[in-house]
Amino acid sequence: MPKLNEHYQNLKESYLFSEIAHRVARYMEANPDKKVIRLGIGDVTLPLGDVAIKGLHEGVDAMAQANTFKGYGPEQGYGFLRDAISAYLARNGVSVDADDIFISDGAKSDTGNISELFDTDNVILIPDPVYPVYVDSNIMNGKKITYMAGNAENHFLPMPEKNIHADIIYLCSPNNPTGAVYNREQLKEWVDYALANEAVILFDSAYEAFITDPELPRSIYAIEGAKRCAIEFCSLSKTAGFTGTRCGYTIVPKELTFTAQNGKEMSLHAMWNRRQSTKFNGTSYIVQKGAAAVFTEEGMKQCQENIRYYQENARIIADTLTRKGIRFFGGVHSPYIWFECPGNQESWEFFDYLLNHAQIVGTPGAGFGENGSHYFRLTAFGSRENTREAMERFEKLF
Ligand code: MLT
Repeated sequence: MPKLNEHYQNLKESYLFSEIAHRVARYMEANPDKKVIRLGIGDVTLPLGDVAIKGLHEGVDAMAQANTFKGYGPEQGYGFLRDAISAYLARNGVSVDADDIFISDGAKSDTGNISELFDTDNVILIPDPVYPVYVDSNIMNGKKITYMAGNAENHFLPMPEKNIHADIIYLCSPNNPTGAVYNREQLKEWVDYALANEAVILFDSAYEAFITDPELPRSIYAIEGAKRCAIEFCSLSKTAGFTGTRCGYTIVPKELTFTAQNGKEMSLHAMWNRRQSTKFNGTSYIVQKGAAAVFTEEGMKQCQENIRYYQENARIIADTLTRKGIRFFGGVHSPYIWFECPGNQESWEFFDYLLNHAQIVGTPGAGFGENGSHYFRLTAFGSRENTREAMERFEKLF
C-alpha cells in the first residue's frame, strides 16, 4: 500500500474557485430560468487584441512549414519573448536580465511550484487575506505557515515586524483580493527586512498593469536591493487577457544565492532552472509568439485599452457601494473591489444570499483567509452590460 501525502488531509475539501463553480452549477440546475451574472473568479471577458492575435497566427503559420516548424523549445522560454519582457520592464523603469526570466503557463503554477525549492523547516509569512494558492501549496508540502493579518486598520497591507524572524515572505501587490498596493517606502521596508533576515520575498505582481499612479512600484525590482532577496511572478492573464491562452513569467535573479547547511553556496536561479528543465517542457511556441506581440508598444497599448474598460466597470461597482454606504477597498489600481458584507454577514452566507436573491456570483472573503470572513470580492472583469445589470440588482437589494 502506498503511503500517501497525508498533508492533503489538512486542505479544505476543494479549491476556492472550484467550490464556487460547484455551488453556482447546483443553483443553475435548480433555477434554469434565472440569469446568473458571474463576478466571482477574476476571468477576463474581452477578446485578445489584434496585435496578440497576429502574433498567435504567425506562430501557427510557422508550425505549418518544415523550415519554420518548432518541436521542443527551451524550457526557460524562447529568447525572443524573454528579451521582449526585459524591454517591457525597462520601459517601466526596471532593469532585469532576459536570462533571469523564466516563461511559464501562468503565475498560478509558478507560485504553487516555487515552494519545492524550500525545506519544510522555514518560517513562512503569508498575508491573510490573500490568493489561496500560496497557502494551499505550502499545506500540500507539509509546511507551517505564519499568517500576517491584513485588515481595515492596516489598509490590508501588513508590514514587517522587526522582532519576528522570517525566512520566506509572500507578498501580492496590487493585492488579490483586496486591491491594496504597497508604495515604494513600504516595499523598501520589506526589502530591508528580507535582507536583514536573509529571507526571500516571493512577490506576485500579476495585477501590475492595473497600476495607474506612476509613483507606485509595479515590480519589486524598482526597489534597491530586491535582486538579492526577491523572486517575482507575473502573468499575462490579467494584463493581456490570457486566462485561457496561458502564459506567465517568473524572474529569479542570479544574485539570489544562499549558504546551504553543508556550507555550499546554492543559487535559487540554478535550482529553479533545474526544476523547470526536469518537470516542464516549456510554454507552446504559438503562445509565446502571441505573448511577445503583447509586449510590443502597440500590443501594450491595446492591453491598456482593455484594462481601461475593466477600470470603468470597477468604477460602476464602486459608485454603487458608495451610494449604499458600504465600505470598500481596491477598485482603483486593481480589478477587484473588496467590501464589508452588509449587516456584517459571514461571507459564505452573503454569497448564498446574493446568488439566491440577485443571481450575482461573487467571491466570499473567507476563501482568502480568516480575516476575509466578513468581506466579499467582486471582479471588474465582467462585460459592461452584465456589470451594470448586476449593480442595478444589487442596488435594489440593499
Ligand atoms: C482570482 O479570481 O482570484 C484569480 O482569477 C484566480 C487566478 O488568477 O488563478
